[in-house]
Amino acid sequence: MSLTLFNSLSELEPEEVEELLKLSQRLEECAEPQALAGKVLALLFLSPSLRTMSSFQAAMLRLGGGSFVVSPNLSIHPIETNANVVMDSIAAEHIREALPVVASYGDAIGIRVFAPRISLEEDLKDIYFQEIAKLSPVPIINMESAIQHPCQSLADWKTMEDLSIPRKRGKFVLSWANHPKALPLAVAASTVQMAAMRGMEVTVLRPEGFELPEPILKVARELAVRSGGSVRETHDRSEALEGAHVLYAKSWSSTKYYGNEEGDHDLRSGLSDWCVNTDWFATADTNCRFMHCLPVRRGVVVTEEVLEGPRSVVVHEARNRMFAQMAVLYEILRENNT
Ligand code: CP
Repeated sequence: MSLTLFNSLSELEPEEVEELLKLSQRLEECAEPQALAGKVLALLFLSPSLRTMSSFQAAMLRLGGGSFVVSPNLSIHPIETNANVVMDSIAAEHIREALPVVASYGDAIGIRVFAPRISLEEDLKDIYFQEIAKLSPVPIINMESAIQHPCQSLADWKTMEDLSIPRKRGKFVLSWANHPKALPLAVAASTVQMAAMRGMEVTVLRPEGFELPEPILKVARELAVRSGGSVRETHDRSEALEGAHVLYAKSWSSTKYYGNEEGDHDLRSGLSDWCVNTDWFATADTNCRFMHCLPVRRGVVVTEEVLEGPRSVVVHEARNRMFAQMAVLYEILRENNT
């Protein structure tokens, strides 16, 4: 496999995803502490992180390479990201110089950007990330953008493999969950597509006004056709969860009021019962697992009882971020070695 941009599982062939999964399993079981000796990974975080930042650094260390982090919280010069601006205010440096400089210190770069959430159309095209990515002279890993979170999805897929959650006829429910803030669509979009690509029967459960945009579902449906899975949406909770093997909770912005904070806030103010509790699993499969990408708000997204109960695999998912990313880094940086 020749990887120069890791942006979305849906952009890979199914065999390439299988290869990454096998490699991540191999690297989990069998250490290769010299595999990336002498290689450096640049990590640019334009929005906050705990798991992504630490798991990438740990992944590079475990493979014998190194990494460095650049983020606005580290006392760097304030960075301007808008185009066509006169920089006579706080920003001292433009991303158009900052990114190629940072990337040039590494053999690859991971980039995390915030979702602008001004225009749904622009965010669905991931314009902000794509523009920034063009500035890099080295291979790029999308560490979360407006519409993608491929590292999370690869780790989640690995977690389901680890737990022998069925592919064919495996019922995967991606449920919207309550949250005080309007969050990006990245995890929801990547997750629905990942589960469809895995051949599962995927149900998106969400209240009115939080429908996933058609372009996201279209890709998921196309992936499901290839894998033998299916994708549908509903607002009927008990019907959606009947026989479910996975309940994956995530909050995302209202698509009806995308970019409209007031409209979004009003819509979600009546939705506090979209907090996952034990009753949600009443008709689910006995072994139904609770998944979430973290960070998660207790008592808002999910009750403590579920989060700390036997169904919850959230820490397993987070640990798998490291092994999934080790596989991605191995493919990108070993490839460049040859
Ligand atoms: N799941 C995830 O990407 O976590 P962080 O935001 O902490 O990186």
